Amino acid sequence: MEDLKFTRDMAQLAVLQRIELADKFLMKVRKLFGRYLFSKLFSKYLINKRKISQNYLKVINNEYQNIEKFLNDGQKILSIGGGIGGLELLILKKFPNTKIDLIEKNYISEKVKYGWDYKNNEAYNNLTITKKFLNLNGIDTNKYSIYDIDKKNLPIKSYDLIISLYSLDYHYDFNIYVKYLRSVSNKNTKIIFDTIRPDFFFNIFEEISVIKENESTVHKSKRIKCTVFK
Ligand SMILES: C[S@@+](CC[C@H](N)C(=O)[O-])C[C@H]1O[C@@H](n2cnc3c(N)ncnc32)[C@H](O)[C@@H]1O
Repeated sequence: MEDLKFTRDMAQLAVLQRIELADKFLMKVRKLFGRYLFSKLFSKYLINKRKISQNYLKVINNEYQNIEKFLNDGQKILSIGGGIGGLELLILKKFPNTKIDLIEKNYISEKVKYGWDYKNNEAYNNLTITKKFLNLNGIDTNKYSIYDIDKKNLPIKSYDLIISLYSLDYHYDFNIYVKYLRSVSNKNTKIIFDTIRPDFFFNIFEEISVIKENESTVHKSKRIKCTVFK
């Protein structure tokens, strides 16, 4: 795959969303000056845009390969917390008849924290930049729609695949979405997300399989593929 077209704003969001893209120097700066200055300034101006873009592509390519077997052309896909949309970009490039709805938050927290957030106040995205990122990298606007979770106008349709990497039940409670997810899935819908408590989902879904183990991320978690709500 060719290099991504990336602006500094996009590189900043990629670093905030994928802290593993920050090098040792940047992590030291974060420790020294604190989360506020890191989130506002250093994550934007102390980064090597080209390097971040190349590493982001590598990371996202690995994620793509992990879920590739669940992808087909023409699917209706829902993405929850997809960030700037790297994974969605790779899917839409590969499958010309697929459409994706992206649900995200539209702000960057004052001091980005990466723990479990019961109130679900933490966010690190900008929906205008997500749109720019997809368009700049050659995706037609009619292939995707972007929804702000805080505007409460979520799309209602039946999806083939629902994906949430390192977002739903990794940073905030699955229950925030459970009613909505029930309403937009059917018995064939595959729901893929990273969770810090995989066993909890045996009571919620008929079928669960682990498709990835995340040992070196902020939380130790598992990526599960679930089908059919009980
Ligand atoms: C750790 S990042 C992961 C981004 C992307 N999925 C990836 O793998 O690179 C978590 C994302 O979830 C988003 N987020 C937080 N709360 C959310 C919510 N209630 N609904 C949708 N997205 C949310 C954040 O803004 C952030 O972009």
